[in-house]
Amino acid sequence: MRGRRKSPGPERPVSEANKSGSGSRGNDSRKPLISGNWKMNHNHFEAIQTIQKLAYALNRDDYLHVEVSVHPPFTDLRSVQTVLQADDIPVALGAQDCHHDDAGAFTGEVSAAMLAKLDVSYVIVGHSERRALFGETDETVNAKARAVLRHNMTPIVCVGETLEHRQAGGAREVVSAQLAGSLDGLDAAVVGALVVAYEPVWAIGTGETASPGDAQDMCAHVRSQVADRWGSEAAAGLRVQYGGSVKPSNAPDLMEQADIDGALVGGASLDAAEFARIVNHRLYGT
Ligand code: PGA
Repeated sequence: MRGRRKSPGPERPVSEANKSGSGSRGNDSRKPLISGNWKMNHNHFEAIQTIQKLAYALNRDDYLHVEVSVHPPFTDLRSVQTVLQADDIPVALGAQDCHHDDAGAFTGEVSAAMLAKLDVSYVIVGHSERRALFGETDETVNAKARAVLRHNMTPIVCVGETLEHRQAGGAREVVSAQLAGSLDGLDAAVVGALVVAYEPVWAIGTGETASPGDAQDMCAHVRSQVADRWGSEAAAGLRVQYGGSVKPSNAPDLMEQADIDGALVGGASLDAAEFARIVNHRLYGT
């Protein structure tokens, strides 16, 4: 079984984190979250089949070690919610986006309030495809994250540099700025309970993955930025996912990195068996 070396956050030694007694911070308290982002794939019939196959492929030990969420298109949410409830499947329902207002004249949009009514737990905000193709800025991402929080759901806030940024040596600065803007004004306790997905844009859907070392470096950087601004307790609680061409073959090396607390999986989450191999609890054994 693979050992998982969790870092307690940059300013807090493991021994101190474990001494806190809160049980909600530090070393082993960050249960990995593996999220399947289906993007604009699977109609609601296909969604029902996929979730049923996924439930069949996962077992009690998987859920014990790993939290799993699926993020189908809006039109599938009600169907997937019904299957999860009817069959008592401990997979969290997620969405891929939301509008920041609760209601109003916003043709085509779906609000966080509506998602909460469907028992959605996690909402992805600021995915690089939303930023690049739909003009989302850190300001809109911040407003969306606040809407998600207002309705007692957890935002998965995406950050990540483009290839140009990386080649120019500016990857850390870009990620720092996205993080600062997207989480601006949130309380430390809130930041400590949310999820940040580090997804280098050049690795998304390309088959290129960041090396485990590079991914760990940037996820540690995210945690240290959070420590600087919101304190060590927030940094120790924050879960940081890696995303970008995660597959069963590269997941083991990525998931054993100290500051990587799970994955945001696109293409490989569309196939239930493949996604289940990424969730496999043996990758996250203590
Ligand atoms: P990918 O997508 O796994 O297909 O690279 C990841 C994502 O966009 O969240």
